[in-house]
Amino acid sequence: MDLGLKGKKAIVTGGTKGICRALLDILAAEGCDIAFCARSEDDVTKTKDELQSHGVKVVGGTANVKEVEGYQQWLKDAADELGGCDIFVPGVSAGGGMDGEKSWYKAFEIDLMGCVRGFDALFSHMKASGNASVVFISTTAAVETFIAPMPYNSIKASLITYAKQMSQFHAKRGIRFNVVSPGPILIDGGSWDQLRQQDEAFFNSILAQQPDGRMGEADEVAKCIAFLASDAASWVTGTNLIVDGGFTKRVQF
Ligand SMILES: NC(=O)c1ccc[n+]([C@@H]2O[C@H](COP(=O)([O-])OP(=O)(O)OC[C@H]3O[C@@H](n4cnc5c(N)ncnc54)[C@H](OP(=O)(O)O)[C@@H]3O)[C@@H](O)[C@H]2O)c1
Repeated sequence: MDLGLKGKKAIVTGGTKGICRALLDILAAEGCDIAFCARSEDDVTKTKDELQSHGVKVVGGTANVKEVEGYQQWLKDAADELGGCDIFVPGVSAGGGMDGEKSWYKAFEIDLMGCVRGFDALFSHMKASGNASVVFISTTAAVETFIAPMPYNSIKASLITYAKQMSQFHAKRGIRFNVVSPGPILIDGGSWDQLRQQDEAFFNSILAQQPDGRMGEADEVAKCIAFLASDAASWVTGTNLIVDGGFTKRVQF
């Protein structure tokens, strides 16, 4: 199947690690020109070097999603450098945590407003594309109770409603909005890897809930994001795709 990604211009936030790093490889291998940001300059330089091997245009920059002006300016500059933007995947998260209001504001600023402000900054480019796609990354912790009443779970849930509303509102402008909600994904140095080292019993209790006894891998999620971002999913908008190897127990009607 041809995904129709060749020649598209894609902007991904948080592309130096994990799911979004895997996504950049897939998009570049499919022939997309890509732009990504993260905070660590060293990681951005290393990632940019690695991605050049695909022979597409690669724009990498440092930006902190929490710093509104710098973040939005980076997105606009990246789109200018790519010559447009057809695909936007804001992948950065503040992660979990239950540090009172501090955690709520952090999740709000990064997980929710990182998507809202990101799209606002890129809107004119995505409208000009005429065939654009936005994919938010939520989590299975948004659709079933998980661990504890954390800001992460609730704020990520708000992305699903926001994407659905946006999908209806922007359909006539040729912009699709979808969400991918991963279950626990085991990434070297990532949050589940760290938890395995800090609290193995808890890690194992989560692992035991996976029907096939393993956690997911970054590229298993990234492939689903790439599909939803692509023209192969031209008739899919407003959906929330659960990518969890059967971790959630609910029936999806
Ligand atoms: N991993 C999972 O099990 C899982 C499950 C469900 C959903 N998700 C969601 O999937 C997405 C990716 O998660 P992941 O675990 O693959 O990512 P990750 O390994 O935590 O990578 C995070 C990336 O974002 C960058 N970043 C972090 N804070 C930033 C900020 N304030 N501004 C700019 N860049 C920032 C990091 O680089 P710097 O540190 O250099 O900035 C890095 O490139 C997130 O939205 C997460 O909530 C993950």
